[in-house]
Amino acid sequence: MNTKKLKIGLFGFGCVGHGLYEVLQQTPGLDAEIKTIVVKQKNKSRRLAPEWFSYDKSEILNDAEINLVVELIDDPDAAFEIVKQALCNGKAVVSANKKMIAEHFEELLELQKQFQTPFLYEAAVCASIPIIRNLEEYYDNDLLRSIEGIVNGSTNYILSKTASENLSYQQALQQAQELGYAESNPRLDTGGFDAKFKLLLLIAHAFGIVLQPEQIFHQGINKLGELELNYAREKGLKIKLKARAFKNEAGKVCAFVLPEFVSKNDKFYQVDEVYNALQIEGCFADKQFFVGRGAGAYPTASAVLSDISALRYNYRYEYKKRQEDNEMEASENIFLRVLLRHPREASDEVRSKFLDTEELYKNKEQAYTIGIITLAELQSTLTTEDVSAVLMDLPNSAEVSQYSEKFGEIAWLQE
Ligand code: HSE
Repeated sequence: MNTKKLKIGLFGFGCVGHGLYEVLQQTPGLDAEIKTIVVKQKNKSRRLAPEWFSYDKSEILNDAEINLVVELIDDPDAAFEIVKQALCNGKAVVSANKKMIAEHFEELLELQKQFQTPFLYEAAVCASIPIIRNLEEYYDNDLLRSIEGIVNGSTNYILSKTASENLSYQQALQQAQELGYAESNPRLDTGGFDAKFKLLLLIAHAFGIVLQPEQIFHQGINKLGELELNYAREKGLKIKLKARAFKNEAGKVCAFVLPEFVSKNDKFYQVDEVYNALQIEGCFADKQFFVGRGAGAYPTASAVLSDISALRYNYRYEYKKRQEDNEMEASENIFLRVLLRHPREASDEVRSKFLDTEELYKNKEQAYTIGIITLAELQSTLTTEDVSAVLMDLPNSAEVSQYSEKFGEIAWLQE
């Protein structure tokens, strides 16, 4: 098979950029070489000779010999300008910038169509796990029921280290930063934003629906407190930050990012530290489980490398599942069983939001309520810093129908 020779213009030489350089050095069989690296800061010591670097983006974007732009910078706005210009100039693009892609998905689709240039981003979701191309090529939309997983390495690292090695939250976060797992603004990780951006990309490729980030509810790990951590310890559970998207009986997509309790017999229980995992459920294939390193220089570079390799034979996403209608389920119709921690004095008010309460606990200042609540009510409760939720599970169909008479038509059922 004839493959294309690739001349790469690389934007960014941080953790992943440097990882890619090394990975390319070790894969000489791949006919791809970096010609120019554009970076922002001039006075920074780097592991390559100064001749490699330029500070002028036009040296890549206007270089006719460069046919592939690899964008690995931090700033999502600058990244979007680079990607837009590169696609306009007919260059293929590989990016790992989930925030930029999630915030500009529609525009990026248009640009790919208009200029007929491929744009690949396997590294943007779960680093080393090959999920985007799998969803795009292998799984048919109609047959996919759900996708759920741990999609952020830093928060999984923090949750693992605080639970098993008694590190403080700050110590574990600092380690995640030193290891190159965290975003330069780590609140994107800890606040659940990064997981939400990744979920948006997964939904686009799993179900063909393009959402805006604001349409997906998220809560990260930065609001977790002692009450829910103690609850997990006492019951032998772990807390994992999980992203979920599933289709309900009406064919509508339900999606959210929340911390969850997982028990020992749950496959996600063993997924610790920087590992990510995804479970895909199809009508006939049933459940399939993917696991791999979710952050870090080489695991992320390995996905970038795979995209580069695919571009040698002109691979592109075709977005065959794309639906113009937004088939998102209203949050009033999504039912969750959660533990909600709140100030003690708010107990009555909180209880009134639950459809059913199963357990109540109070100490001098704080309280928690366990029960069934709609996503809409949960969202309205989680607006203050002193309230935090952890998902227990999704109520089953029998439990949901129990509430149907009381609360109108129920739109989804979980098997
Ligand atoms: N900050 C991200 C994470 C990097 O921790 O998962 C990989 O996307």
